Amino acid sequence: MNRLVVVSNRVPDLSAGAQAGGLAVALESLMKRRGGLWFGWSGKVSDGPEAAPVITRADDIDFATIDLTTEEHEGYYNGFSNAVLWPALHSLTDLMSFDRRSAQVYHAVNERIGAALLPQLHPTDMIWVHDYHLMPLPAILRRAGVRAPIGFFLHVPFPTADVFATVPEARVLLRDMLAADLIGFQTPNDAENFAASAQRQLGALRHADGSISHAGHRIRLGAFPVEIEPREFAALAAQSWRNPATDRLRHSLGEQKLVIGVDRLDPTKGLVQRMAGYRRMLETHPEWRHNVTLLQIAAASRQDVATYRDLRAALERAAGNVNAEWGEPDWTPLRVIARAVARPTMAGYMREARVGLVTPLRDGMNLVAKEYVAAQNPRDPGVLVLSRFAGAARQLSAALLVNPHDPDEIAEALNTALSMPLGERQDRWLAMWRAIEGHSALAWGRSFVAALMQASRAQHAGRYVGLAETSNMTHGGMPLIAPHAAEPISLTDRVAARLANPMGGMDAPKDPKRLS
Ligand code: ADP
Ligand code: F6P
Repeated sequence: MNRLVVVSNRVPDLSAGAQAGGLAVALESLMKRRGGLWFGWSGKVSDGPEAAPVITRADDIDFATIDLTTEEHEGYYNGFSNAVLWPALHSLTDLMSFDRRSAQVYHAVNERIGAALLPQLHPTDMIWVHDYHLMPLPAILRRAGVRAPIGFFLHVPFPTADVFATVPEARVLLRDMLAADLIGFQTPNDAENFAASAQRQLGALRHADGSISHAGHRIRLGAFPVEIEPREFAALAAQSWRNPATDRLRHSLGEQKLVIGVDRLDPTKGLVQRMAGYRRMLETHPEWRHNVTLLQIAAASRQDVATYRDLRAALERAAGNVNAEWGEPDWTPLRVIARAVARPTMAGYMREARVGLVTPLRDGMNLVAKEYVAAQNPRDPGVLVLSRFAGAARQLSAALLVNPHDPDEIAEALNTALSMPLGERQDRWLAMWRAIEGHSALAWGRSFVAALMQASRAQHAGRYVGLAETSNMTHGGMPLIAPHAAEPISLTDRVAARLANPMGGMDAPKDPKRLS
């Protein structure tokens, strides 16, 4: 078995309790089971002389980390990654704040990560690069002569070609990503958007099997929706529901119904808009006053970035206003906690909550939505109110889907959720549980790794085989593509549908002849 080398900006401490962030949650199962090398930033900033990566070992995983300097942290992480790419990829271009220096530092840090990684690599490794912080890395590794399979997975959405074109470095980033053998996205729509950008900006050629060609290299694109470990999380929630922390919360609520929101404090999560929706609900449905509490757990995140600091202030203001306007001496309608809570505690709270309120303005997937579903008591489940613009909405269509920009829609959905009869709650919950129960974070990771090996083998054989033609093939008794990854995968279905029915609800292809 080839050693797996994961490269991500943040390298988690898997023994730590409270960690807010989807990447660590998604990769933990695969890395614990398979072992390998996990390379990235230590999370520390230090201005000492550049040192070799620090390597520690736990659970058969070698963790190799480097510190960033103050300038690197500012330009690469706060600047280009989180003040340019993050908002652009979430189609929030108004929040972009670009300066050329941070773009230079971003590329330089990617070069440094590549140089520090090279001596750690073995010839038979497979390399899996994660997320927007490291878009240039596949090309950097190839330029350094790495011939190992390289996969790239984008945890966040990929916007339309028009929106991505607003990123000052757009062409270079696309070109560098295309040095990978396989690029994975959360949804087929993200893969489609990426292919459209590559075609428009670089003249990449699109193929009917969903792959694209550029500079003599054929790259497979696919959708690999990130999953949680649903049974594990369900068990954790059932157990934690009885622990003292959940008991205290329950006791403090008395007869009130609990609505819960759990997020990183991030502008994409729609927190201020969510407060407006809750406020509107209290205004238009007075019957809920005294009878409901919203608990918003918002883990502080990226506080060195101005928009994140502003958001914290805006959330505190909005929350203060709700309580000032609607609160009573014996009733606080809204409780906000601006930090991460331990995972078991969060799971117990989710099970206690009658409503899970998950309303990002845009989100690659949103694991919190899946966790809320997994946490429910099947006999008396709560209701998920979910943004249409979360990647998870595709699988969790039995949630009450809302436009997160519309406070009235959020208010109505909240009222519907709080009043929903048991039978309907059970039906909706079962449909959502069925959508997640057959999947797992482990299978997600394995399906990507299998697809990467396949794409790389085909690349080296000079014979590219598209996913649609190979999804039933097996290798050593294991399906090359895990069933859940094969179903919504790649652009194949969309392209085939377009060719069969060019106007069938989708934009007609710009130049159908280019779809070979
Ligand atoms: P993102 O990757 O943008 O942070 P996701 O919803 O995909 O969003 O993943 C977030 C992960 O971090 C989930 O597993 C969630 O349980 C965890 N998390 C988010 N906010 C908190 C919090 N306030 N406290 C504890 N865990 C959190
Ligand atoms: O899901 C997107 C993401 O950037 C993940 O890569 C990461 O786990 C999470 O958000 C938290 O972000 P940060 O590492 O910047 O705290």
